[in-house]
Parts: sequence; structure tokens; C-alpha cells
Amino acid sequence: MMKPSLVLLLAFSLALATSVAAKLQKDFYKKSCPQAEQTVQTIIWKHVAGNPELAAKFLRLFFHDCFVRGCDASILIDSKAKDTEKFAAPNLSLAGFDVIEDVKSELEKECPGVVSCADIIALAARDSVSYQFHRSLWEVKLGRRDGKISRSSEARTEIPSPNDDFSTLVGRFAKKSLDVKDLVVLSVLREQRSEITPTFACAVNAVIDED
Ligand code: HEM
Repeated sequence: MMKPSLVLLLAFSLALATSVAAKLQKDFYKKSCPQAEQTVQTIIWKHVAGNPELAAKFLRLFFHDCFVRGCDASILIDSKAKDTEKFAAPNLSLAGFDVIEDVKSELEKECPGVVSCADIIALAARDSVSYQFHRSLWEVKLGRRDGKISRSSEARTEIPSPNDDFSTLVGRFAKKSLDVKDLVVLSVLREQRSEITPTFACAVNAVIDED
């Protein structure tokens, strides 16, 4: 089970890296789609109740979306040529797209053309992880715009790889305004969920020891 404090740090770090340009706001949909957050939570909680593994899927989907061109839902864009982000090797094992689609369809019925897919992904990550705690674990500021550009080449070069050595990972995180501590915290969080390469794990442990 993920610890709330780590989850909060994760949310903080990702927000730090991606919210500067977008000018996100707490009540972004208050007038245009007041029930938007509730709709997302209801649908996400329904799905997670039947499939608890979805929390990990949405968290990872959000992370991979944010790492390429910011949190702009460019991870969702399809292409016949299979040259968009979702077809890049690091993204082939992502999941949860169908649920995001469900949420978007419902919101389109309620408030056509208002709620961005980028905000839906951010809320889905928060709500799926929060489900087991029966409350929202962190606030998600809203107002992200959906991007129209999505390139698999960018996902391949920007998303951290399990084969990266520590300095490469530090470099990749630095490009997103995330520092070594962010990397360590996010990696420890991640390590609770899945395996980590030995070299990387050693490097992370060394940094923790130095602090
Ligand atoms: C620090 C660099 C990172 C590397 C190199 C990395 C790499 C990977 C790899 C190789 C997998 C296995 C994928 C598969 O099953 O095919 C994975 C899974 C996962 N990663 Fe990361 N990751 C990193 C950071 C993160 C961060 C920061 C998060 C959270 C925001 C995250 C969330 C997850 C989750 C939740 C899974 C499991 C997904 C599932 O169960 O389907 N990872 N990661």
C-alpha cells in the first residue's frame, strides 16, 4: 500500500514540474462544469473498486504524460502511423485509456467541450490512489489544456528508462525542474510497487545515506 506522505510528495513534485506555465486554479470548472470533479471521482472509484491495480496504472499514465511536453494528455493521441507517444516503447505497457475515455464521454454529455483530458488524467491519478482512503489525498488544481502534438521519439528520449544510470536519471529529472530529492522520493515510492534495476537502487540508497 502506498503511504499518503509519499503520495503527497509525488503530487507536489509533479505539480511543481508542470503547473507553472498553465496557471492552474482550484475552482477552474466551478461555473463551466461544477460537477466535473465529482463525475471523475465517481467513475474512477467505480472502476478501481473492481480493479485495484488501476491506481498504479493511472499514476504511471500521469507520470508518463507529464514527462513529455508537460501534463497535456498528449499520451492519449492515436495515430495510424503509430508515431505518437502512446506507441513509444516505454508506453506500450500503459493501461487505463478506456477508463479515461469513459470519463471523457460522460463529461462531454454533462458539459460538452469543457473539461480537458489533461485534467481528467490528473484527477484520475489522484482519485484512483485516494480510493482506498475514502477521501481525496491531495488537491488537484485544474485548467490544463490538451496538447495537439505527440511524438513517440520524444517519449523514447525523455521518459526515464530502467537501463538509465543514476546521472542520466538525474539529468532527465532536472529537465523537468525536478531535483535529486524528487528523484529519490519518487523512486522509493515506485520501488514499493515494482522492481528496480540493481545499479539504480544502489545509487539511490547511496544518496539517501548522504542526506
Ligand atoms: C525514476 C525513474 C523510473 C523508471 C526508470 C521507471 C521504470 C518503470 C518500469 C520499467 C516499469 C515496468 C513497466 C512494465 O511493466 O512494463 C515501471 C512500472 C511502474 N512505474 Fe515506473 N519508472 C520510474 C519512475 C516512476 C515514477 C516517478 C512513478 C510514479 C509517478 C512510476 C510509477 C510506476 C508504476 C505505478 C508502475 C507499475 C505499473 C503497473 O503496475 O502496471 N514510475 N516503471
